[in-house]
Amino acid sequence: MKAVLMAGGSGSRLYPITHAVNKHLLPIYNKPMIYYSLSIPMLAGIREILVISDDESLKAYRKLLSDGSQWGMRIEYAAQNEPRGIAQGLLIAEEFLDGDSVCLVLGDNVLFGHDLSAHLKHAREIVESDGGAVVFGYYVNDPERYGVVEFDDAGKPVRIIEKPKTPPSNYAVIGVYFYDADAVNIAKQIKPSWRNELEITDVNNEYMARKKLNVIKLGRGFAWLDTGTYDSLLEAGMFVKTVEDRMGLMISAPEEIAYREGFITYQEFQNLVDGMKDTKYKRYMRNVK
Ligand code: G1P
Repeated sequence: MKAVLMAGGSGSRLYPITHAVNKHLLPIYNKPMIYYSLSIPMLAGIREILVISDDESLKAYRKLLSDGSQWGMRIEYAAQNEPRGIAQGLLIAEEFLDGDSVCLVLGDNVLFGHDLSAHLKHAREIVESDGGAVVFGYYVNDPERYGVVEFDDAGKPVRIIEKPKTPPSNYAVIGVYFYDADAVNIAKQIKPSWRNELEITDVNNEYMARKKLNVIKLGRGFAWLDTGTYDSLLEAGMFVKTVEDRMGLMISAPEEIAYREGFITYQEFQNLVDGMKDTKYKRYMRNVK
């Protein structure tokens, strides 16, 4: 399985912070936002990732993430200069995916929780062994801002509605999607929505119609944080700081994940740390065993 990381968009709700800087490069406490979303496929054990953004921002991503080899990965880049929706990412990624299954992640998604890695690996395994798709539902108090899962009386998911005025449940579909190789062809068939976007929700509903969509609920032990407004961006940073200070463990540090997932050896990890600027980040890494 490969991964596609969507890191474009104008970040208009964060203007003027995002006037000259892509949203996914903004800090969440001590790391650029994209470290958090990049960690998601890494925690699923995925080492080949395509980052999609506009040409201008790709320069910065290349500087930040390089070709991925420092973390035992392969990171490639592709441009989406005229954003036409999340599902367009699957079309842009067609060549990169080359018939492989895919974990599609939205670059502003911050996830934290107990055994997150096991949940992600489980989702990957379902898709790799049985085909179909896996999405995650997360209980929120403002579902109308998201794609929302409608369940029948027996609790079975029946469809997903994008930005419903009257949400059928509180379960929002988070921006982490696991698909088999059919996803690209499904994305080719869907039509732009009322907001003129190729909706990822339409892709998910097609899997649902084929009885191939698994909806996994993430319970209270997880935090799925919003980063789209001034307040939520600050709150996400405070959350990360609070947990990291309390535990003395870092959330979503790619170097540490690359080492713990076995993408790089301990020696390679040490060499990476040696090359870091002298900050709290480096001092933390020094103590990773
Ligand atoms: C997108 C999806 C939506 C999903 C959300 C998660 O919304 O369309 O279904 O719930 O991401 O972050 P958008 O960011 O395009 O409004």
